[in-house]
Amino acid sequence: MESEQTQKYSFVAKAFHWGFILLFGYGIFKQVDELEQLADQALLEFELVFAIAFLFLLVARFIYMKRTQTSSLPANTSKLQQYAAKIVHYGMYMCLASISISGILIGVLYWSGIKSGSIINGVIGVHEFSFTLIYVLIAIHISAAIYHRFLCDGVWNSMVPFWKEKLD
Ligand code: HEM
Ligand code: HEM
Repeated sequence: MESEQTQKYSFVAKAFHWGFILLFGYGIFKQVDELEQLADQALLEFELVFAIAFLFLLVARFIYMKRTQTSSLPANTSKLQQYAAKIVHYGMYMCLASISISGILIGVLYWSGIKSGSIINGVIGVHEFSFTLIYVLIAIHISAAIYHRFLCDGVWNSMVPFWKEKLD
């Protein structure tokens, strides 16, 4: 019964989900540690191209997911839990958008010669706050995924290709 209720994500949906984890991880690994580093023109250009491509793919992912996929939560999941999942998912999308948009703004400001002052510091503040928030949301998201793994309700299997639930 449970496996009937549980919808499987398409290959494209899974590729977006896991591909973004790699892309985001790479972005963090390559992160700019100090504003002064942007004086290196090649780094500034790379960061800008990366952030624009990231934002473009994020919008493509969001449109694809909204148009073609639905959550794998079983139909009998409480309304509260459904809202909580929605808030965390939308929250992660908003943080990823805010990280790339604020990053692009930092680059554009720096390129235009605005290298210090309250405007660029404010945008850096938004960039850093979005990271603080997304780390909290990702921790909640992964905890919820593991919780569903123990519930064995098919949610884990619908997205995760390892440590499969044994559904009968
Ligand atoms: C950077 C880390 C992550 C982000 C930003 C993220 C984001 C998302 C988002 C936005 C969704 C909703 C479907 C979509 O729009 O693609 C989702 C679904 C899901 N994710 Fe993640 N995820 C992350 C890491 C993980 C990890 C590490 C796991 C498991 C170990 C996981 C397990 C799942 C599962 C099981 C679903 C399906 C939930 C449902 O259908 O309601 N995610 N993820
Ligand atoms: C998706 C793209 C990006 C990712 C994943 C990313 C990643 C990060 C991370 C992890 C931090 C540290 C945040 C913290 O300490 O809480 C950071 C800070 C920063 N990033 Fe980005 N970034 C991106 C785009 C950009 C772009 C396009 C620029 C500018 C061209 C930029 C400039 C900066 C600056 C100036 C800081 C602050 C350094 C400081 O504390 O002085 N980022 N970024």
